[in-house]
Amino acid sequence: MSMFMDLPTGRVLVTGALGQIGTELVEALRQKHGHEAVIATDIREAEGCQILNVMDKKGIKKLMFEEQITEVYHLAALLSATGEKNPKLCWDINVTGLENVIAAAKENNARVFSPSSIAVFGPDCPKNAPQITPLNPTTVYGKTKVVGEELAVTSGIDMRGIRYPGLISYKAPAGGGTTDYAVEIFHSALEDGHYECFVREDTKLPMMYMDDAIRATIELMNIPFEDLSDSRGGYNISGCSFTAGELVRSIQRHLPEFTCTFKPDIRQKYADSWPEEIVDVVAKEEWGWKPRFNLDKIVDEMISNLKK
Ligand code: SER
Repeated sequence: MSMFMDLPTGRVLVTGALGQIGTELVEALRQKHGHEAVIATDIREAEGCQILNVMDKKGIKKLMFEEQITEVYHLAALLSATGEKNPKLCWDINVTGLENVIAAAKENNARVFSPSSIAVFGPDCPKNAPQITPLNPTTVYGKTKVVGEELAVTSGIDMRGIRYPGLISYKAPAGGGTTDYAVEIFHSALEDGHYECFVREDTKLPMMYMDDAIRATIELMNIPFEDLSDSRGGYNISGCSFTAGELVRSIQRHLPEFTCTFKPDIRQKYADSWPEEIVDVVAKEEWGWKPRFNLDKIVDEMISNLKK
């Protein structure tokens, strides 16, 4: 018999609900469970969203108890570029914040989804990253995600995560990540006809359209705990991989006049330390992961939605 028999009967809590992932995940969860069942929280104020700081251990416990939370999507975090500028804050939010959520989840017998990232890999990882490989990231952000994956399997609760690739979406801005160029480029292409990209033209990284990422998250949380291995701390899932140059050329199918120049900054270093591709056979086998969006399809969707 499973030690986690009680599947969510209570409500769902989302932290970092106003971020790039949260904006769309809250929408999807409210469709699935009903509006009232999903408590969206963030440190910023917005309609339909409560204030919650993940550093407020007592506050999280209180909210989870009062709202009878049985499932948490813990999205509050600092990304790689912001994290390197402020490593202490990155550690506090990404690790201590997560520990606070885990402690509250334990008390409330709740399950937790905690995102991991392709940033867990370091320069010693093969360019086509396997699920199981030594994790030696160079960024603080990557290190905090490795700790998160470890906590998923050692904390004694039902906790799962996905190593998200760079996420591309049009509903909310990406904020403070290395892969942000793959979002910014669309806005600049449509508004200015030009983009100055902060990584080299030949920089190739794993990317994914947000629809795929949201579907992956919900699919993973639907799987019985027993069916998942210790890879549940952070599953490799692949969407598609492309270079910045290939992205430009795909956008030019819609906007032939669009130009892009390349002026690498410090974020090039982080990008160079990450793999180019992701091997996702474990996610495919354990919970049936399958992406739907390739590069051209992502570009078609982004351009048509941003034009509206
Ligand atoms: N997209 C994130 C970043 O660039 C990686 O998880 O920081």
